[in-house]
Amino acid sequence: MLTAKQLRQKYLDFFKNKEHAIIPSASLVPENDPTTLFINSGMHPLVPYLMGEKHPLGKRLTDAQKCIRTGDINEVGDATHHTFFEMLGNWSLGDYFKKEAISWSWEFLTSSEWLGLDKKRLACSVFEGDADASFDDEAYNIWLKIGMPEKKIAKLPKKNNWWGPAGITGPCGPDSEMFYWVGDLDKVPCSFNDDNDLWVEIWNDVFMEFNKNEKGAYEKLTAQNVDTGMGMERVLAALNGFDDNYRTELFWPIIKKIEELSQIKYEERKKSFRIIADHIKASVFIIADGVNPSNTERGYILRRLIRRAIRQGHILNIKNNFTVEIAKIVQEIYSEIYPEVLQGRILFELQKEEEKFRKTLENGLREFEKYGKFNGKIAFDLYQTYGFPIELTKELAKEKDLIVNEDEFNEEFKKHQELSRTASAGMFKGGLSDTKEKTTELHTVAHLMLAGLRKVLGENVHQKGSNINGERIRFDFSHSEKMTDEQKKAVEVFVNEAIESKTEVMMAEMTPEEAKKYGAEGEFGHKYGDLVKVYSIGNYSKEICGGPHIKNTSEIKGKFRIQKEESSSSGVRRIKAVVE
Ligand code: ALA
Repeated sequence: MLTAKQLRQKYLDFFKNKEHAIIPSASLVPENDPTTLFINSGMHPLVPYLMGEKHPLGKRLTDAQKCIRTGDINEVGDATHHTFFEMLGNWSLGDYFKKEAISWSWEFLTSSEWLGLDKKRLACSVFEGDADASFDDEAYNIWLKIGMPEKKIAKLPKKNNWWGPAGITGPCGPDSEMFYWVGDLDKVPCSFNDDNDLWVEIWNDVFMEFNKNEKGAYEKLTAQNVDTGMGMERVLAALNGFDDNYRTELFWPIIKKIEELSQIKYEERKKSFRIIADHIKASVFIIADGVNPSNTERGYILRRLIRRAIRQGHILNIKNNFTVEIAKIVQEIYSEIYPEVLQGRILFELQKEEEKFRKTLENGLREFEKYGKFNGKIAFDLYQTYGFPIELTKELAKEKDLIVNEDEFNEEFKKHQELSRTASAGMFKGGLSDTKEKTTELHTVAHLMLAGLRKVLGENVHQKGSNINGERIRFDFSHSEKMTDEQKKAVEVFVNEAIESKTEVMMAEMTPEEAKKYGAEGEFGHKYGDLVKVYSIGNYSKEICGGPHIKNTSEIKGKFRIQKEESSSSGVRRIKAVVE
């Protein structure tokens, strides 16, 4: 029996021995990518480095990264899909490439010193080639040389053997996946067929040598990188001979708790058990990284996860509030490796959300039962009066073969001027809402705006939060009074001057002390290593930031305008601004 802790540790130790620096898991909330809501893979927080920036800890990195894949939410309920999972990964930033990556994967999987898997149970796949990139004969030949039988190396198309980008644009490339036979040893087929569920994908080596640009074209990156990812929960299940991830120690104590609370056996209602276990676990991790339930963006996804779990609890006839009980088990499972799950806020937020939703759940369900036909207005009323996320209403309707017209719902929503929520429904579907290009442009404009605010209102102004999409900037800053029209005008003039001046945007890496001396605005605490990035825009702005930014203010198309300035919370003001 291999434990999760042992698997994680073995992986990191193996790559440490191969001169990789172990880096901590980044937060689930992306720092440098305003176009996605959550970190969805090990490579996601490393995108700037895969694009060529220097990482302070060198060219070889390894970690266990927390991930959220909201795209898989409807799959949750089966044996292997999760919204929250951990990914073990190793990276070469322009250092080693296919030969080392594949040989090391093989060594880790099969050497008796490491996982010691039976070679007979392993198979792999490589990219077969298309108009964007040719057949990966290099990877294919490396596998042959290692001793993988020809029939166990599948050549597959982009759909199977291409990974990335994590967002709309960014680094990506052909990959080589490894599979493990979870059936009987004497029944291992002599050839690999990816349609057979008994072959479980356990690891993916991506050869990241392309960047997908805004036009959808693949450009060669300057460096050849390696990005690998091993799904912790799946591998743990496979290695321990389970065909159900929920049987592993990363879930089983939660399942047991649900049995206790519901007095129902897991085998009887697997789907509901799995949804509760998965969603509350994901919620604990999302709250731990600073998100609270709300009606927009990340907060809305969190709310949806919690409410969906509560509804399944209702189906299992759990009478009392239970999310906190489940969350405590999640804390027990993970606190050693992710101590952030112990924050008191987590239980508090869950309790609050459950109290709020439970009060109306039954009434809402009763209301729902009354309808034999649906329209957007009813879905909207269920949302507004009973807090039913539209997706929940759709699920309920589907169970009853009723159809909810989402367009009508959105119409209804617009009437109620809650555009932000509609945007986040779109975001949930695609994971992304806007083109990266426009967002990057507005990100640079936000730096100019902060500099303008500090110039007009004084040095006490600091950024308190921001949310930028392809259409607008939402920006919170410390300031205690309402801005006058003259002040707003002065900030607009400052930013527009900077745009018209066609000034270059420059980046330099320096220590936090140097950045302070240089007069850069921003957070001085830093996560990995000693260097921070300072972006300067002539004499207009100097700010610590992870990027990305445009290269020159001439790329900003249009005029900057403050649409709205209002109070956000005590001592904090909020601006909505556009460039049009
Ligand atoms: N980024 C690759 C994946 O997520 C390794 O599968």
